[in-house]
Formats: sequence, C-alpha cells, structure tokens
Amino acid sequence: MIGILCAMREELEPILEYVEVKEVIDYGRNKYYLARFQNKDLVLAYSKIGKVNSATTATIMIEKFNARKVLFSGVAGAVDEDLKIGDLIIATKTCQHDIDLTVFGYEPGFVPESKVYFDCDKGLNDIAKSVAKKLDIKLKEGIIASGDQFIHNKEKKEWIKKTFNASAIEMEGGAVGNVCWTLDVPFFMLRAISDTAEEGAGVDFDKFLEESSKVSAKFLVEMLKEINEK
Ligand code: ADE
Repeated sequence: MIGILCAMREELEPILEYVEVKEVIDYGRNKYYLARFQNKDLVLAYSKIGKVNSATTATIMIEKFNARKVLFSGVAGAVDEDLKIGDLIIATKTCQHDIDLTVFGYEPGFVPESKVYFDCDKGLNDIAKSVAKKLDIKLKEGIIASGDQFIHNKEKKEWIKKTFNASAIEMEGGAVGNVCWTLDVPFFMLRAISDTAEEGAGVDFDKFLEESSKVSAKFLVEMLKEINEK
C-alpha cells in the first residue's frame, strides 16, 4: 500500500483524476480514498494545512491503512533564487523551522531525543530524478523547511534560508518526515512552487495554487508508474 498525502483539496483533486477510486472511508474527520493505479494499491488523503493535521493523517495512513511508503505532493514557497513559480523541487530532507528551544542551548529546530532534519528516501528520490530526466523536466533537490506559518516576509524567509539551508518553505514536510522517521516508513516530498514567500506571496499563492498543484500531481503520477509496490 502506497500512501499519497496532500495538505489541501486543490492539491489532491488532480491526483484523484488519474487513479481508480474503489472506496472512500470517513475516519478522524477526514476522507481516505482507497484506490488502484496500474496494479498498485493506494491510500490517498488531504490532511488540511499544517504540521499537526499532516502528522495525524500520515500516522493514520501508516497505522490504520498500512501504507508502506508516504509520498507527499503539493505546493511551496520558493527560497532558492533559481526556483520560479511552477518549478518542481524534491526534498533531500525536511525540518521544522518553528521549533525553538534555543534558550536551553539547543540549535533551532532541535527537540531532545529527536533531530533537526528528517531524511527523504533516496530510492524514491532517484526514481524522481530519472523520471525528470526522461521527460526533460527541471527538478531541483534541496532541504524543505516547514512551520505553522504562511511565510510572506523577505526577512523571515532569509532567516529560514540561513538557519536551515532551506530551498523551499511549506507547512507539512517536517511533520510528515518526523512521523515517517518515527515509524520507519520511507518518505518522499514533492512540491511545485506557488509563490516567493515574500511580500505579496498570499496573492500569488491564491493565483497559482491550482496550476502548481497540477504540475506536482502530474509528476507524482509519472513517478507512481515507476514504483514497484503492490
Ligand atoms: N506553501 C506555499 N507557499 C507557502 C509559503 N509562502 N509559506 C508557507 N507555506 C507555503
């Protein structure tokens, strides 16, 4: 079973168009779509925005629906200069930029007995890179930082870039990475850029959410074709 997770309805809907939905299960104030795609069993859901919602949904996908991989698709704010609206990025690792225990001498993003960065699965990232190469699609790789804030401020964005060496910002990856590390499940994070996370980002986000969600969804489906799992 492969888990496919998004944060928002707009991110999930274009993926649902490609798969054959067999059953929709209501659980924990959410809908889980059980589906088939090229002989593969999928569980798909959108969690609602943010770290708690995405962590909850990822956990349910793994513990209740037996997902043995979690693939995330959605949009993000660009941090790296060379990322433009509509460009795709995969995470090498994810982190949580809003964790702050620095008063106790810990580095930003660190929780005792846990860690700052959660690695994404190398095998899945290799598949993404080979699909991008085959289809001649530009695909960037980098650290993606998450927090329960929509970033629309250059100063804050620059702080996240400097502190975590991040290439993109969103609101779920660090939380889902944490869940997948805790439960030992391979994790893949794909995002298409919707805004620059600077002043005016809210307007761009509203304008490009649907378009960029489709870019990410389409690429994820191409990748699914290359994943060998029942
Ligand atoms: N997701 C897309 N754009 C974002 C931004 N600027 N901040 C946080 N999450 C986002």
